Amino acid sequence: MWKAVRTLTSRATTSQPRLRDVVIIGGGPAGLSLLAALKSSRVTRDLQCTLVEGGSLASVQNFASNPPEEYTNRVVSLTPKTIEFMQEKIGNWAYINEERVKVYDSIVAYDSQDSDSRISFDASAIGTGTLAAMCENINIQASLWERIQELNMTSDVPAEIMDNVKVEKIQSPVEFSASEALDESPDLLEVDPTDGMSELDWPIIHLSNGESLQARLLVGADGYNSPARKFAGIQSRGWMYDRFGVVATIKLCYEDYRSIGWQRFLTTGPLAILPLRDDNATIVWSSTPELSQLLLKVDPEIFPHLVNAAMTLEEVDLNYIYKLLEVDPSDKSVLGEIEWRLSKIKLSELDSKYPLPVRELVEGSRARFPLKMSHADTYVAPRVALIGDAAHTIHPLAGQGLNMGQTDVAHLMAALEKGAKRGMDVGSTLVLEEYYANAWPGNHVLLGVCDKLHKIFSTDFTPLVYLRGFGMKTLNSLGVVKDLMIKSVSGN
Ligand SMILES: Cc1cc2nc3c(=O)[nH]c(=O)nc-3n(C[C@H](O)[C@H](O)[C@H](O)COP(=O)(O)OP(=O)(O)OC[C@H]3O[C@@H](n4cnc5c(N)ncnc54)[C@H](O)[C@@H]3O)c2cc1C
Ligand SMILES: *[C@@H]1O[C@H](CO)[C@@H](O)[C@H](O)[C@H]1NC(C)=O
Ligand SMILES: *[C@@H]1O[C@H](CO)[C@@H](O)[C@H](O)[C@H]1NC(C)=O
Repeated sequence: MWKAVRTLTSRATTSQPRLRDVVIIGGGPAGLSLLAALKSSRVTRDLQCTLVEGGSLASVQNFASNPPEEYTNRVVSLTPKTIEFMQEKIGNWAYINEERVKVYDSIVAYDSQDSDSRISFDASAIGTGTLAAMCENINIQASLWERIQELNMTSDVPAEIMDNVKVEKIQSPVEFSASEALDESPDLLEVDPTDGMSELDWPIIHLSNGESLQARLLVGADGYNSPARKFAGIQSRGWMYDRFGVVATIKLCYEDYRSIGWQRFLTTGPLAILPLRDDNATIVWSSTPELSQLLLKVDPEIFPHLVNAAMTLEEVDLNYIYKLLEVDPSDKSVLGEIEWRLSKIKLSELDSKYPLPVRELVEGSRARFPLKMSHADTYVAPRVALIGDAAHTIHPLAGQGLNMGQTDVAHLMAALEKGAKRGMDVGSTLVLEEYYANAWPGNHVLLGVCDKLHKIFSTDFTPLVYLRGFGMKTLNSLGVVKDLMIKSVSGN
């Protein structure tokens, strides 16, 4: 009946919104995962789905046929749980370029204030064969793209992806009709709001290409600044850490057969070196705004030595070296300063207790991201659901951000499948509430754990340094910190 109303309507100026069952804003890992999962599921695959991405997905499309020679700098650590979800449920893992994935089985974390206090754990701590796998964001996105193409070929209801198209405005239908010219017939109101099929309360999404969509369910996979979250009036709480994460692709002196992820807790923030294939590796160096800016400016030849220094030397020495570089980021005399200090450490100790030296920085791979912790009060509102960074952002010290988005997709899918099986409206609050109830508490715990880890280590306040050292040394097998680390790294 509402369809008839629609076809009767013709407007001279504004085109009528196109009706869709699901509109996903955001073509990041979370948004593409949800689209692929929806189209993979027998229960939901006939839903009419559109994904809108403001940026270009050209590099995602080209990755399979023409992967870049060097590793891209956005690399994430995937948990076994995420990989299983991608294998079993979404089905995109078959399209992952596995030659660029690096499985690693242990983590060594140590404290800059006391290098003897360290914790290490391996896959057995979480009861799986592998601890985690390093994978480029774009590899994940490309595999999802391929999976969506595969599903599209056999689907009766093809998925729609629009890239280079921004969502400019989201309106409720009430706002929308109020903003329409008054000479129009109030056709929206002719719809019977009780028939359950009415789009009376479906949000209207205005796109930069002039089109507009109206969604039974609007999913915000639109990142930290989520327009969908703002439209839904959902509060997000948290704080900026006043820290930036500097990422870079690097080359080690030779391939490290031990496949260990290293993390050193400096008072400015943790520095992690994570293994990639062959002698490649990636770093995430969390630091202050000033230091992160310096790290981007430092001469590319000095940078590898600076990473080696930061993984090894005392913080007083590091501060001295930073000072020299602040005066001149290309000051080569720094190399001698670092070498001289490193030469005082026993070789056997360097071999056993520290990561392999870094040899080279891959040109153009340095970038920094502001670090923040945020959590939305709820993930759902009538006809709206939030997933991924739109719902939460986390300190990268345990590499959990993207993994949490996968858990969101798993819980949202479970709720939508259950609702669809029962013939319910997938945009209804009744269906969506279950997603929120199942996804929010686990994320809340993980956000708290990582926030605590950040706070415990980002201080040189002596009693706390003493305490955490004590914890790391004597409680290595059962310690609180270790427990927190394992919990967060494995996502369990
Ligand atoms: C330094 C650093 C290291 C990290 N390391 C790890 C790690 O080891 N492991 C891990 O799991 N996670 C890690 N993360 C986190 C991870 O990168 C993010 O959690 C993840 O990429 C978020 O994915 P998403 O799809 O939710 O959001 P995003 O990737 O932010 O995607 C949102 C998309 O929405 C689009 N969009 C936004 N607004 C609009 C609009 N108005 N119209 C159209 N499109 C729009 C954007 O263009 C974007 O493509 C790290 C993060 C940082 C900063
Ligand atoms: C799916 O296939 C249709 C044609 O059948 C095409 O118009 C559409 O763009 C495809 N979708 C994606 C996501 O590639
Ligand atoms: C990593 O390093 C090796 C040798 O340095 C190289 O051959 C390899 O292809 C590199 N990159 C990737 C993406 O594997």
